[in-house]
Amino acid sequence: VTIDSRSDERTTCPFDHHSSEFGQSYRDVHRELRDIGKVVWNDAYGGFWVVTDYDTMRSVLMDPVAYTMEFVDDNKEGGPIIPASEEMAGMSSAPGLFFFVDGERHDSPRAALARPYSKRRVASMGDAIRARVNGVLDQVLPLGEFDIVDDFAMEVVAEVVAGQLGFGLEDAAPIFRAFPSAATLGHEDPASKATMSFPDAVAYIGELVKARRADPQDDVISSLLQYNDGQFSDDDVAGMCMQIIFGSLENPQALTAHCMILLGEREDLRTLLRAHPEKITDFVTEALRYFNVTMGIARTSTVDTELGGVRISRGDRLFLPLPGANHDPAQFDHPDEFDIERGPVQNLALGGGTHTCLGQFLNQAMVGEMIRSLLERVETYTIDPDKIVRNTDKSANDNFVKAPMRVDSLRAAS
Ligand code: HEM
Repeated sequence: VTIDSRSDERTTCPFDHHSSEFGQSYRDVHRELRDIGKVVWNDAYGGFWVVTDYDTMRSVLMDPVAYTMEFVDDNKEGGPIIPASEEMAGMSSAPGLFFFVDGERHDSPRAALARPYSKRRVASMGDAIRARVNGVLDQVLPLGEFDIVDDFAMEVVAEVVAGQLGFGLEDAAPIFRAFPSAATLGHEDPASKATMSFPDAVAYIGELVKARRADPQDDVISSLLQYNDGQFSDDDVAGMCMQIIFGSLENPQALTAHCMILLGEREDLRTLLRAHPEKITDFVTEALRYFNVTMGIARTSTVDTELGGVRISRGDRLFLPLPGANHDPAQFDHPDEFDIERGPVQNLALGGGTHTCLGQFLNQAMVGEMIRSLLERVETYTIDPDKIVRNTDKSANDNFVKAPMRVDSLRAAS
């Protein structure tokens, strides 16, 4: 990183968070940025501040009034990525897409969803999640080789997430595959495995919500329709479902692949987790800190203020690279080592404050169960690095196009 001091005394650091160079060296870049300052300026994409350390990043996330997800004033820049896309601007006015707004339009859907996605409710889903994971493994293990991301984790996540919402589908993955990811929004995705169009998926969800309005079931959609004497319209509830699908499209799948690749290299961890499956929760938490998966989010300042020693103006954009915080040595000892004994130090991989990941407990449960069942049923496996295809633009996510796993031997059924 080249450091430069401009006439207005901003310390600037040119790097392009969308470039493949950044994707390959982001840990070094974050290390250097932390040494430069807590908040440094980047001239790219119209200019934005980069928050580099754990404490400052957390303070931004904890103050959604000063640092909003919404578009401020000119309506050109805002939302969770830099630069903003037109689609993202449209999303802040769409019903039910609560991630893109702050205040009442965010907080009421979150309040309605708090119980279905609580730690307690997710704990009661443990057996059902286990059954779904094993059902998918029954399909893929006999193949000898399968893609962890699409053949395995996508099937599990779609079944669990859509099942809880109330989709009542034998196979919900086609709906999930129809959704554009943050990275592909507005572009043709050459790697897309979609067999259904996005408008058809949206239409399906709309019809489903109407059907639940007429005939409520024991599911999340029905509970949202009944919440607070019918506070939410059908469109609101359909939007909330879409928001939840957007959140679970790629991240749990990518985390599962990161974990299985790491475990493929670390016999000590495989042995430990097989002997002590209760440690899988700590393992997943550390994998979130270490790999991040969500690589960067953004906010826009609504105030003229000071942050980390610099003057921020209303309308300024802030980039929050989560790996920078999660590998900050001031917060985590030996941050670049994978250590499952860290204890309850909260990492920022799932965000912080009001927008903290809604799926945090469900994600733990699903990814934990996928790892546990794979280790229980597969004795040895190979993940050939040459067959792994990763995304190159790591500005928002660190994920995989595919991560094939070859099953070398199964474990005897216990
Ligand atoms: C490895 C897995 C996951 C990671 C790394 C992850 C990461 C995140 C992060 C960082 C945020 C906050 C973004 C911000 O503040 O700008 C977030 C929000 C969100 N996540 Fe997740 N997530 C994961 C899994 C899931 C799952 C499984 C679901 C759904 C069941 C989900 C649903 C959501 C939703 C709906 C939000 C928006 C919350 C709000 O605005 O209040 N996520 N996630």
